[in-house]
Amino acid sequence: MDKKILVAYATKYGATAEIAEKIGEVLCQAGLNSHVLPVNHVSDLSPYQAVVLGSAVYIGSWRKEASKFLRTHEGELAKRPVWLFSSGPTGEGDVEELAQGWHFPGPLQPIADRIQPRDIAVFHGAADPDKMNALEKWMLKNVKAPVGDFRDWDAISAWAAAIAQALHGKDQG
Ligand SMILES: Cc1cc2nc3c(=O)[nH]c(=O)nc-3n(C[C@H](O)[C@H](O)[C@H](O)COP(=O)(O)O)c2cc1C
Repeated sequence: MDKKILVAYATKYGATAEIAEKIGEVLCQAGLNSHVLPVNHVSDLSPYQAVVLGSAVYIGSWRKEASKFLRTHEGELAKRPVWLFSSGPTGEGDVEELAQGWHFPGPLQPIADRIQPRDIAVFHGAADPDKMNALEKWMLKNVKAPVGDFRDWDAISAWAAAIAQALHGKDQG
């Protein structure tokens, strides 16, 4: 009953951390005890009933620390309900179209297949030119990715609310 939900994230410039905070907030509002932590602050999953894990996407990959977390804790994650998300595509419009078919990092897909996450989401991201270095700005320009904050808080909140609902259903069942 009092078991906690872990919302673990990997970020470079903070956009994904704020998405994780929002997910944690929605879970708390739904009466769930959630802990929002950077992935590298988590070594033991035993206090957690369920895990939400998210990473920023850079050049089609998750942040190294998120990939490492998934690999290291695969066995423990497979025993719990898990939800995965990525924070990536910038620009207005449908996130799947912006992602151009990208759904999850290919090299991590076999691990995800074994963990069997309840869902894998991709959310619009935020790219702040004031935080990026010259190479990063050039790279985004090169792939014609707009800079700005495109995070869809309604989509993020709705996804988190669905997680809360699934976990409440699990308690009752
Ligand atoms: C150099 C660079 C490369 C990026 N590559 C991708 C990418 O391949 N796919 C994607 O969806 N977003 C990409 N993004 C956008 C970031 O994933 C997005 O801005 C994210 O929300 C940043 O999260 P963070 O602030 O937590 O690090 C890239 C951004 C930069 C600056």
